[in-house]
Amino acid sequence: MAWTRIADANQLQDEEVVPITLGSAQLALFRSAGEFHLTDNVCTHQYALLSDGYVEDGCVECPLHQARFDLRSGAALCAPATQPIRVYPVRVEGDDVLADV
Ligand code: FES
Repeated sequence: MAWTRIADANQLQDEEVVPITLGSAQLALFRSAGEFHLTDNVCTHQYALLSDGYVEDGCVECPLHQARFDLRSGAALCAPATQPIRVYPVRVEGDDVLADV
């Protein structure tokens, strides 16, 4: 795959998230603890959008049943989710957020 510009780095403050649609993929771009993270947007427990969740210290809490995921690894940190979310490589060049999706 190739690096693709997906956002302006200035559009997100720390501990914020925005939904990103790339083709048919529903993704979520997070800025947390000073780093950008790109993940699948749909929770692995049931259907909820993590872009509606609560972001803090490199983690997101699902808005529906409060499972938490590590934004670096995608790991599910607590019930009811048991499966990780997929994470994608992301980097910042100037004001551009680039992803390898
Ligand atoms: S849908 Fe995310 S924890 Fe249930």
